[in-house]
Amino acid sequence: MTDEAPVVTIDGPSSSGKGTISREVAGHVGWHLLDSGALYRLVAHAGLGRGLDPTDVEGHARAAAGMQVVFGADPDGGERILLEGQDVTQAIRTETAGQGASRVAAWPAVRTALLQRQRAFARPPGLVADGRDMGTVVFPGARLKIYLTASAEERALRRYNQLKGKGAGVSLAALSREIAERDARDSARAVAPLIPAPDAELIDSTGLSIEEVVGRVLQLGAVRSLWPPQ
Ligand code: C5P
Repeated sequence: MTDEAPVVTIDGPSSSGKGTISREVAGHVGWHLLDSGALYRLVAHAGLGRGLDPTDVEGHARAAAGMQVVFGADPDGGERILLEGQDVTQAIRTETAGQGASRVAAWPAVRTALLQRQRAFARPPGLVADGRDMGTVVFPGARLKIYLTASAEERALRRYNQLKGKGAGVSLAALSREIAERDARDSARAVAPLIPAPDAELIDSTGLSIEEVVGRVLQLGAVRSLWPPQ
């Protein structure tokens, strides 16, 4: 992190709306965006592509350090993620890929291998970083830290609607179970567990619209003089 690149971190459990809120806030103020969860998803995917044993920690750490990733946009402005030149945008968004990500994310060697790659996203005019440990480990000096939650029911429903919108065949009950399992693993792991930074602002987005949450984050940033009142 450099002095001239302020960072806003948005952490929280699965499907709390971090991705959407981070993208909206970054777009609004013209800052860069780091979707750190995508990096863990990419490591798991790269491991599959390289035929690694799912328990091969060192192999996955090497994949994390060496993988060639391009975060881009498709012609409609939607996200497009390339791994070793292959479009993996859809492949890494399934709940199975999320489970794979959560497994490799528990390994310290993988987390260490991704640390510098994540910090390199902090470039002027600023960065909005979305994940689980952005405020606690990766950017402890962030100027504004948000911890975004929502009730378990609402998070499962949001994820269900998101996946259904992409045409995936999913069941709400199965998703609820998988999200609970992933959150339990993310919260219980020894390294960089999902936990609010002591200086984080907690926002419970249950029953709030995207606009309301974005407005709240923009307001908190303005109070800290990160951007003019919006
Ligand atoms: O945010 P997303 O659902 O894409 O993250 C996938 C998984 O990656 C999470 O369940 C978590 O295990 C891991 N992750 C992490 N640290 C981050 C971001 C994601 O451990 N900063």
